[in-house]
Amino acid sequence: MKALILNSGLGTRMGVLTSQHPKCMTEIYGNETILSRQLRQLNDYDINDVVITTGYGEDVLKQYIDSLNISVSISFVNNDEFKSTNYIYSIYCARDLLDDDIILIHGDLVYENSVLEDVLSSKESVMIVSSTESLPEKDFKAVINEERISAIGVDFFENSYSAQPLYKLNRADWSVWLKEICKYCEVGNVNVYAENAFNDVSDNCCIFPFDIHERLCKEIDTPDDLDYVKKHIDLVENRIVYVSFSTDIVHSGHIKLIKKARRLGKIIIGVISDEVVASYKRFPMLPYDERKALFENISGVYKVVKQETLSYRDNILKYKPDYVVHGDDWKEGFQKPIRDEVENLLQDYGGKLIEYPYARDIKYALLERRASYEQRIINIENKYDILDNWLKNYHIKSLLLVCGKNVEYHPLYKHILNMRESLGIMVTRFSDFEPNPKYESAVKGVELFNCKQCDSILALGGGSTMDVAKCIKLFATMDNSMNYLSQRIEDNNIPLMVIPTTAGTGSEVTRYAVLYYNGIKQSITHEECIPSMVFIDPSFLRTVPDYYRKSTMLDALCHCIESFWSINSTPESKAYAKEAISIILDNEEAYLKNDPIGNVNMLRASQLAGKAINITQTTAGHAMCYMITSLYGVAHGLAAALCVERLWPYMIEHTSECVDKRGERYLTNTLRELATAFDCDTPVEASSKFSGIMRRVNIKLELKQSGISNDIDKLADNVKQERLRNHPIRLSKEVIADFYRQILE
Ligand SMILES: [Fe+2]
Repeated sequence: MKALILNSGLGTRMGVLTSQHPKCMTEIYGNETILSRQLRQLNDYDINDVVITTGYGEDVLKQYIDSLNISVSISFVNNDEFKSTNYIYSIYCARDLLDDDIILIHGDLVYENSVLEDVLSSKESVMIVSSTESLPEKDFKAVINEERISAIGVDFFENSYSAQPLYKLNRADWSVWLKEICKYCEVGNVNVYAENAFNDVSDNCCIFPFDIHERLCKEIDTPDDLDYVKKHIDLVENRIVYVSFSTDIVHSGHIKLIKKARRLGKIIIGVISDEVVASYKRFPMLPYDERKALFENISGVYKVVKQETLSYRDNILKYKPDYVVHGDDWKEGFQKPIRDEVENLLQDYGGKLIEYPYARDIKYALLERRASYEQRIINIENKYDILDNWLKNYHIKSLLLVCGKNVEYHPLYKHILNMRESLGIMVTRFSDFEPNPKYESAVKGVELFNCKQCDSILALGGGSTMDVAKCIKLFATMDNSMNYLSQRIEDNNIPLMVIPTTAGTGSEVTRYAVLYYNGIKQSITHEECIPSMVFIDPSFLRTVPDYYRKSTMLDALCHCIESFWSINSTPESKAYAKEAISIILDNEEAYLKNDPIGNVNMLRASQLAGKAINITQTTAGHAMCYMITSLYGVAHGLAAALCVERLWPYMIEHTSECVDKRGERYLTNTLRELATAFDCDTPVEASSKFSGIMRRVNIKLELKQSGISNDIDKLADNVKQERLRNHPIRLSKEVIADFYRQILE
């Protein structure tokens, strides 16, 4: 799209104001002229290809534009007959440059940003009109017939609206009009308006009126017009626009929103206080003062103020913004009541809520996810009021508590059940599920969630509890007449909070959920599985039975090892895994002895390992272990460790069968890096160190012996293929069967 600005005229009605330069160089406020404002506006809306017709004062005009330093590409077209022709002839002179969609603007036109924005977003060809302004004596009016403009001129008063020469013209319509302009000029009809040519072809040139009501869009023909515009532009530019931010990572999506808000007036940014951010989201990485300074230094921000509550009330009443700007993501979910309040407050005095489409770009989601891993994990041991405040701020009214019986002894469980009295939150408990939960259990949970009209889910328990809770969240908004597993997962705003009571699965930070359907493991992978909030209370770990304590530690360690060699590994995933391995090795003894420090550290290690597999997914170890769990009820972590123990030495010897695209040498180096992470000199030594841990942990496999050899084929046939695909070396069915044989016989 190109812009065409008509600046050839003499501007004689402006008197002395245009004696030294063309009319478009008339100042309207500060150093801003009609033209500099037009060019900045076009540039701001990414229209960077501009044709300007010149005539009177051409040299002064060119010099002036040069001095403006605005990065638009300008083609000048001189109308050397400017004294004796009208702008129809200027357009004719520029005709060869106009083969495009065109924004046609008269050079003396001043309009507010939103007018240009609306014109640009129109799909049809449009001209600006105002249904509220009285019809001018001498200026343009547009005649409307069957919703279209049938004629434009100064002499039409019937069925007319006051009109301004700002057009958006689609190429097809424009070419009809331009052709007619050329016809006029070629027979010497050069002293009429270009609109006369339009009137002759309006049946074939489809221009719609775009009604701006009272918004500013006015030509400056006389000193009186200039006074009017100066007065109104001052009001337009000084409108207050309020935008609230809780973020501490300012990315291009936020900058885009600020840029859009800036077009509406002077931006006041409300920065949400640390306490409030921590209470509903995560503790901010940057404290309030730094976030304030960050926003103060963004171009175009007028002022930054503190917002002390999630509600906008105090700041709206204080600053009376003309506009509040927000993404459209708060029309549903926990932010809806806040939005409704904003709308009501604005309505009281005629303010307006402007909502732009929320930036759902995956790169922003990933950025926020990375930042939020750490920050949305809050320790609430002996500080249950943090949990209470969070729930209050999220306006939680009806909570589905997913937990097993084994947490009933704990004061936090009692605290949650008591929330009906203490916070007025309905709490519905769901415990009808088993370890390694079945699909049917999640279905029961969904029924309860919907029947009790819950608005949020809190999982209190280990990996299985979190799996069930994640699935209830995913399924709750699906069609209950069909199998949930066959349906597409959509985003939903149901807050999912978790309080992990074991250290190992890392499920509290991952996008994975596991269910068993007809005895077969189903892995569900979706960003919606990642809990909104993780509250930790390490005191839960004191009562984890020995068997599960050991098994979950092995699970975390297997997550580290498998993510390390996964074909999806990245420097980031390896860094998480290395740190987690180091913590696990340092805290193995303390954790297994149930030492409080060991417990806290193991919780941290399992979350780091969770972050690693969140990036890479698991590999053959996990692909193989699920059937062992399914057939023999062996704890997941132990089953995974038994598989990894067999896999690791095999891999060291079979790097030549590498399928990782980064090649065999990369894999060999990875195995060396993994050895270093285990504080060993060689991969063989590291793999033996892992076996040493297995011996120390000393959990015996108690399998029913009979018929095991018959199971081998079944096991090997049911290895999870999608996990196997992440493994860096090829594993044939025979090799896998052999691993199973070694484990089971
Ligand atoms: Fe696992």
